[in-house]
Amino acid sequence: SIVDPLLRTGYHFQPRKNWINDPNAPLYYKGWYHIFYQYNPKGAVWGNIVWAHSVSRDLINWVALKPAIEPSIPSDKYGCWSGSATTMPDGTPTIMYTGVNRPDVNYQVQNVAYPRNRSDPLLREWAKPSHNPIIVPGGGVNATQFRDPTTAWRAGGHWRLLIGSVTGSARGVAYVYRSRDFKRWTRVPRPLHSAATGMWECPDFYPVEAAGRREGLETSVSGSGRARVKYVLKNSLDLRRYDYYTIGTYDRRAERYVPDDPAGDERHLRYDYGNFYASKTFYDPAKRRRILWGWANESDTSADDVAKGWAGIQAIPRTVWLDRSGKQLLQWPIEEVEALRGKSATLKDRVIKPGQHLEVMGLQTAQADVDVSFEVPTLAGAERLDPALDGDAQRLCGARGAAVEGGVGPFGLWVLASADRRERTAVFFRVFSPARGGGKPVVLMCTDPTKSSLNPNLYQPTFAGFVDTDISNGKISLRTLIDRSVVESFGAGGKTCILSRVYPSLAIGKNARLYVFNSGKADVKVSRLMAWEMKKPLMNGA
Ligand code: FRU
Repeated sequence: SIVDPLLRTGYHFQPRKNWINDPNAPLYYKGWYHIFYQYNPKGAVWGNIVWAHSVSRDLINWVALKPAIEPSIPSDKYGCWSGSATTMPDGTPTIMYTGVNRPDVNYQVQNVAYPRNRSDPLLREWAKPSHNPIIVPGGGVNATQFRDPTTAWRAGGHWRLLIGSVTGSARGVAYVYRSRDFKRWTRVPRPLHSAATGMWECPDFYPVEAAGRREGLETSVSGSGRARVKYVLKNSLDLRRYDYYTIGTYDRRAERYVPDDPAGDERHLRYDYGNFYASKTFYDPAKRRRILWGWANESDTSADDVAKGWAGIQAIPRTVWLDRSGKQLLQWPIEEVEALRGKSATLKDRVIKPGQHLEVMGLQTAQADVDVSFEVPTLAGAERLDPALDGDAQRLCGARGAAVEGGVGPFGLWVLASADRRERTAVFFRVFSPARGGGKPVVLMCTDPTKSSLNPNLYQPTFAGFVDTDISNGKISLRTLIDRSVVESFGAGGKTCILSRVYPSLAIGKNARLYVFNSGKADVKVSRLMAWEMKKPLMNGA
């Protein structure tokens, strides 16, 4: 193989080999976490899609089972595409998924599958009842863009679920279907919501506690009687390949969702400003939290994917909850990942002068967890925000990457760096003073992989998002999970997240190094940095 095997991830979810995409139907049952996912059993490119299945006690150590759902009936003969699980009132999970039933035009219908044996905590066998398909497109619905049923929720004697689609005028839509018995489903004439974005894949819709409470809510919890419940609607934008969400209210009687921010569907708050798509949440009753799974594909060539024999990973599962402001979600790696922490190193109260960097010594960092608190003594030297780029984090970071000296920042981490630092992936902040005077400083978070590898054939986009945090006290934190070819970062306690795939040619295995850097004109203090080597969990027999 032309790709170094040491670039294969160590603790991110991955099967032994082959292509993977969307996480499907994550669920918890009788002491076990289940994840299903889109999988090609025959190779490292998309195709021949089945539902692969793995189980875990802790969301970290995974055992692969045989595929749970494979093409076998007329209504899924040409593909078993994405879907979700719903827990029935008796505690049994049910799966709803999209089947492709024609070879030529990707005609899409929805099917249901039930566990064959409810007393098997591993849910190894799934049965497809003869009344499939249970939802077919009709009444003006685009049959070739009609997929990815959500987890259903129940209220007032009816189940409801969403199916993603697109209208003739290119509006993304989430259609609502209702059922009393989970067998006969009818479409509510008006969709739950729509926006001028193109196709909505993999919708997700769930309640969250208002006012910064971290506890998750079961999908069927209703707003009535609970004054402080908000809803999140997430869609995966097929045209732009990212997941965006809005926060709003759900009117169950009208079957309508209204975002709190009228411009929410243009602002595109994202779970992750990097490589993260087709995500899905589930409620974990064992720890009363809502957990987010998302897919990250490769940024290498398809030829390299085929040569190495695998493509695609799932991001580390993240706990999600509503920020105290009510304006955005917060995300944090599930606490279980900390069980993989081994040998550590600490830095305390180290000032990094302009143009300086500092190596974190004494541990291997190709597979590591880094948590750092920065403090900027003064924001006086912050650059002015260029009004033309105001609001466009991606372009701002493209124009002012990690190598462009600034006022306050860029400062942050160089990860997966070679000893000579010719290779390095920068994860950093940059602080701007607001363009029109007044207002609070603007914080930009970026991942810049343009120097991540000497290999010339890679896709190396800079990724960026603004961080809605008050940095007037100078403090900001950064957590980065490094995993050989993954850099997954959480800024300001999970306000802004960026996952990036990089493929160093020198900074591999024992040769990977970790630095703190400051390319601004102002001092930056590392109040505290903790870094841990990360152990390798059981990963599907690999
Ligand atoms: C999203 C997606 C889904 C579809 C599945 C097919 O990545 O296109 O809309 O169900 O992948 O594998």
